[in-house]
Amino acid sequence: MKKTAVFTILILGIIFTITATSCKKNEVAIPIPTLYDSLGGTTLVADPKASGSSIEKGRLLIRSIIDSTIFIIAADTALNGHFTVLLSEVGSNNLTGFMALSKNLTDFVAVATGAKDYSYGGKSMTAAHNPSQNSRMNGKADNGDFNAFETDLVAGAAKNAVTTSNPALVSVAKLVETLRTQVVQN
Ligand code: HEM
Repeated sequence: MKKTAVFTILILGIIFTITATSCKKNEVAIPIPTLYDSLGGTTLVADPKASGSSIEKGRLLIRSIIDSTIFIIAADTALNGHFTVLLSEVGSNNLTGFMALSKNLTDFVAVATGAKDYSYGGKSMTAAHNPSQNSRMNGKADNGDFNAFETDLVAGAAKNAVTTSNPALVSVAKLVETLRTQVVQN
């Protein structure tokens, strides 16, 4: 190749690099909607459980679905045998464990769906579902338990007017399914 051709390619390369870099600097970042956004996102609304406080709409929907699901699980004989610690606390009007579980599950799902304003501070999915690392987990979960959990989650969502025809619920269900091997440890 001629020296002039090599020189021209070099110059064009430099111009392209400079243009690409400067364009990037001026780019307006267009946020890509997350699954959390399709569940309500960061819009603040009144928190029905704490008068005078507000809560992100996405978090409120997730928390409502989680709380409904915990109640459904509590009555589900296919699953409730694993939740004996929680159930005996609730039976004696001690809601501390329920509140902690509701918060941790809500944080977990919020973060997993893309929420930026919360963080999950609970155990890893493996530790949370290993009775030797979590004394609140009565016995290991099997695949049947996991299927029952998914059914109860869908029922919890339906109690909050979110049905399986909602693409966001389908995406959450897919996300939940990716955790099966961490929860089912038999
Ligand atoms: C993908 C599905 C699941 C997710 C995302 C999930 C998530 C969680 C989270 C975040 C916690 C709280 C951990 C902590 O406080 O450090 C927890 C606790 C627990 N999970 Fe799961 N879980 C799932 C499925 C299951 C299944 C199928 C069972 C069935 C046996 C189960 C039984 C429990 C029990 C018994 C606890 C302790 C509850 C308590 O604190 O009293 N989980 N789970």
